[in-house]
Amino acid sequence: MDSHSLDPDKPFRRRTWHWLTHELRQALRKNVFIRYLFEFHDLKIRLLLGNIFAIVQAVSLIPISLLFKRIIDVYIPQKDASAIGWVIAVGLGLWAVHIGATVASRYFTLSSTKTVTERLRARLVMHLQQMSLRFYDKERISELHPRVVMDTERVDVMANALVVTVLVSAVVALASAVLLLMINARLALLVFVMVPLYYVIQRTFSTKLKEGHRSFRKEMEQMSSIVHELLHSIRLVKSFAREPFEQERVQERIRRVTHRGVRLFTETAAFQILLQFVGGLALLVIFTVGAWMTINDRMTLGEIVAFSSLLAYFLNPINTLIGCVDTIYAGRAGLESVYGLLDIYDTEKSDHLPRIDVQGAVEFQNVCFEYRKGEAVLHNVSFRVQSGEQVALVGASGAGKTTVANMILGFYFPTEGRVLIDEHDITKVNLRALREQIGVVSQDNILISGSVLNNIRYGKMDATFEEIVAAAKLANAHDFITGLPDGYDTDIGDRGVRLSGGQKQRIAIARAILKNPKILVLDEATSALDSESEAVVQEALKHLRHNRTCFIIAHRLSTIIEANRIFVLKRGHLVEAGNFEELMARKGEFFRYYQLQFKTKEQVANTTVAI
Ligand SMILES: Nc1ncnc2c1ncn2[C@@H]1O[C@H](COP(=O)(O)OP(=O)(O)O)[C@@H](O)[C@H]1O
Ligand SMILES: [Mg+2]
Repeated sequence: MDSHSLDPDKPFRRRTWHWLTHELRQALRKNVFIRYLFEFHDLKIRLLLGNIFAIVQAVSLIPISLLFKRIIDVYIPQKDASAIGWVIAVGLGLWAVHIGATVASRYFTLSSTKTVTERLRARLVMHLQQMSLRFYDKERISELHPRVVMDTERVDVMANALVVTVLVSAVVALASAVLLLMINARLALLVFVMVPLYYVIQRTFSTKLKEGHRSFRKEMEQMSSIVHELLHSIRLVKSFAREPFEQERVQERIRRVTHRGVRLFTETAAFQILLQFVGGLALLVIFTVGAWMTINDRMTLGEIVAFSSLLAYFLNPINTLIGCVDTIYAGRAGLESVYGLLDIYDTEKSDHLPRIDVQGAVEFQNVCFEYRKGEAVLHNVSFRVQSGEQVALVGASGAGKTTVANMILGFYFPTEGRVLIDEHDITKVNLRALREQIGVVSQDNILISGSVLNNIRYGKMDATFEEIVAAAKLANAHDFITGLPDGYDTDIGDRGVRLSGGQKQRIAIARAILKNPKILVLDEATSALDSESEAVVQEALKHLRHNRTCFIIAHRLSTIIEANRIFVLKRGHLVEAGNFEELMARKGEFFRYYQLQFKTKEQVANTTVAI
């Protein structure tokens, strides 16, 4: 429990009070709505002002109906034209208050709910960045992304609806109901009978319409994606002369959108006209029953007019309130999703651990590892790599090479055994500080959106332009960069200039050179390149590899031969380790791998001559 309850110096009653409030807070926070309300702790005044102005907005126009009654019942019979000016002044005054209160209420409500939404989004993004890679192995990005963007928006829409719609509508409906009762209780009760009718209509249609909207949106998305896809594969379509086939396929989708649209919007129209019908019915009742009452001297003409003008103030908000139910459900679902994500504590917690100064020695001690329980990926792997040593990791696809790299970076911790960087157990160091000193060049996701300059600077955020150019030169990238439309400022994001695979890799290498790491991991950095760009990139990599501990995962023979040692991985076991000559002489696993990979290649002829 918390420290208050254990503190002997505090008087018992105070301790109990603290304990109680603490427990109460915890219990209340279990409810997502209340937890959400706590988010407004420093925005109370704004939220309160938003609510007060909403109430003012709600009641400010209602007295106008009473003015109408007065005109008809008092001023007209008395033929008193002088009062008209006064009525107009009051009416305009009420409208001025209404307009002012509406704008003020919107401003205060929006500025508090949007601030909370902004904070929730920022907190979600921060939270997601702190999550371990294990979390990302389990979760789908396509499902995480909408939680940050859409679910928070739903919460915001709900919060605004609660203040602006629910509060205002409830106050207006209540105030006008009271007035209706005061003017003529019997007629008012007749009007109230309409409310269940509204409810029935709303409930009958709401599921139908919601479903309709959903499938309409889905059809739209599918049409959009099929057109998108077609445009993307236009070369293929043309080369196979499949235009008529594609036309048929796309047209089918377009037809379905039409079908759905006609249905949805017809249903919407039916729904709306039925609602209007209830309003019309109520008006009919007021005028017929009201007329009968007036004839029998139970009501005045002015009361009928006041009644009919109040009717809209009563029925519209009731209608809105019933319609709001869905927004609130959606908001609650949004809240549950947002807090559900924030409550997952699969974060990397190492910021409090000591920052180490990496020299470059890496040791695996009997490392076992599994991504999923019971599926071992590394079995008892042990090795020790000196600072500055160049190691090639070799093995078939799926052997565990990338996994070894992941563990050096502390992306995952061993299930058994230890990973040591310069004698420091990786589970006991500050991981962000460690990763600052490790460079990675891999095959995918190598660029961030933005300019070339910012991409290289990502390796060292405070680098000067001269340092960046020097790194680019070492990476064989300077020449092609200066040839780009805006040189170093060229945008290479999604909407920017397209670079070749080799060019991208050289930018990634420049970034790693700038970072100047003590340990370098090259995970198939050149695998996706054609041999020509590979040669240029290899050249760049030479500069990068110089003078640091390197783990090189590559299939190119010359790279493997150049390494000080070769580690051969087979289904998660480290089966052989040694330099090229040793392993070839042993005629074991590496020898077989070599035969398989390089025997038929021209390369082999060249290299064997070179040996
Ligand atoms: N994130 C992951 N979640 C679950 N299994 C994984 C994950 N990454 C890799 N694996 C599995 O671990 C094994 C080793 O993969 P990996 O280290 O990527 O091999 P390599 O890089 O040698 O091709 C493979 O069987 C692969 O399917
Ligand atoms: Mg791999």
